[in-house]
Amino acid sequence: MSRTALSTFLTLAIAARFALAQPDPADPTPLVDKTYSYPGGIPYQVDYNTAAIRGPQTGYNICNSTTENQESLCQTSFVNQIDDFCLWAPASPNSTIADTEQSEVAWCTKNGHGTRVIPPGALTGVQYLRTPNYVQIAGYLDQTKLDIAAGDYGGELDPHGADLRGNPLGGLMYSNVYPSSNTDNNTYTQIIDWNSFIGGNIFCIKICDPSSSSSDQTEYCQNIYDELGCSYNMPNNGQNGTFEVCDADNMYPVGIYTSGGQTLTYSQPYTGVVSPPYTATPPASSNCVQYASDALYSATASSSTSAGASPTGTSGSSGSGSSSGTSGTGSGSGSSGAASVGVSAAAGLAGVAFAMAIFA
Ligand SMILES: *[C@@H]1O[C@H](CO)[C@@H](O)[C@H](O)[C@H]1NC(C)=O
Ligand SMILES: *[C@@H]1O[C@H](CO)[C@@H](O)[C@H](O)[C@H]1NC(C)=O
Ligand SMILES: *[C@@H]1O[C@H](CO)[C@@H](O)[C@H](O)[C@H]1NC(C)=O
Ligand SMILES: *[C@@H]1O[C@H](CO)[C@@H](O)[C@H](O)[C@H]1NC(C)=O
Repeated sequence: MSRTALSTFLTLAIAARFALAQPDPADPTPLVDKTYSYPGGIPYQVDYNTAAIRGPQTGYNICNSTTENQESLCQTSFVNQIDDFCLWAPASPNSTIADTEQSEVAWCTKNGHGTRVIPPGALTGVQYLRTPNYVQIAGYLDQTKLDIAAGDYGGELDPHGADLRGNPLGGLMYSNVYPSSNTDNNTYTQIIDWNSFIGGNIFCIKICDPSSSSSDQTEYCQNIYDELGCSYNMPNNGQNGTFEVCDADNMYPVGIYTSGGQTLTYSQPYTGVVSPPYTATPPASSNCVQYASDALYSATASSSTSAGASPTGTSGSSGSGSSSGTSGTGSGSGSSGAASVGVSAAAGLAGVAFAMAIFA
């Protein structure tokens, strides 16, 4: 499919999905249109809360040493490097993502962001991919260490939602990897579009380059395939037990596949069985460098600095085309694509029920 045709398809698909999404009259500015310089421009809470359909925002966006503890309700997050990123997870133990999607808080691999710290040993395998248009981190974890109930297959978190106020409400994302000319690692740029899946002891999170065109950001950080999980939204070759950083090509946009020489499109249905007629293929990757987890994640809730990690070896190319690996990373787990699609339906269905409640 030509790039123009591809963009048209995506625009239509997104328009169809957003026909259901409407701004909340009490808080009409979509979260993705709320931009703040870091750190000085950020208000205490970015979600207005006033008589809104959902809410109020449960946490806050100004995060500092006072808020840096394991009860933190910080909702300002980061995706920087393999040893410096945050995941969105519940604030209270034994919670499901579907029940808490609007109130997730930031859990980070290191101190310094005013957040909770991901407990040592929670991450059991992580693959960090740098691509032309986005950075993606996918991996394995013991989700109970991040307050997610054992056995919860989770769902998608992103700055959209049926009322465009985000899941979590008011969640902000920043990074020091953009613009690419920024090499001091101390300049943080707001990420406009991002998405994440967590559950089934796997996770994936992606940030789209905020200096790229808005259509590219929409294309690579789509939020309309929320029941397809990591394996379709963020195809990867991550392995449990391996910690690596690779360069990679951009993925093929979700929902577009070839069959019998034709380029076809798959749209996730609003109701009924979610059964994509293709298997997503991880993009080609190269220059992979592997690390020991201890070198990456030595932070505890009390230490404040982290030395740079030392590589333990190089694995060269992860290759492409293999769908083994963290690919399981569905919003479901696993080894079986069918299972990973099916189990994630809980969060997706909750989303549909919510949309119906708003527009009934
Ligand atoms: C630290 O963060 C808290 C919570 O957002 C905020 O109330 C407080 O004013 C902040 N402190 C400073 C010095 O910015
Ligand atoms: C988590 O919650 C479920 C459902 O309420 C309960 O059955 C289970 O015992 C809880 N597990 C823990 C570890 O508290
Ligand atoms: C910035 O971070 C990258 C990745 O961790 C590292 O390779 C680089 O040396 C850092 N740059 C500076 C100036 O610290
Ligand atoms: C990943 O590996 C750890 C450590 O071996 C294991 O406990 C865990 O069950 C594995 N996770 C998944 C999702 O297979």
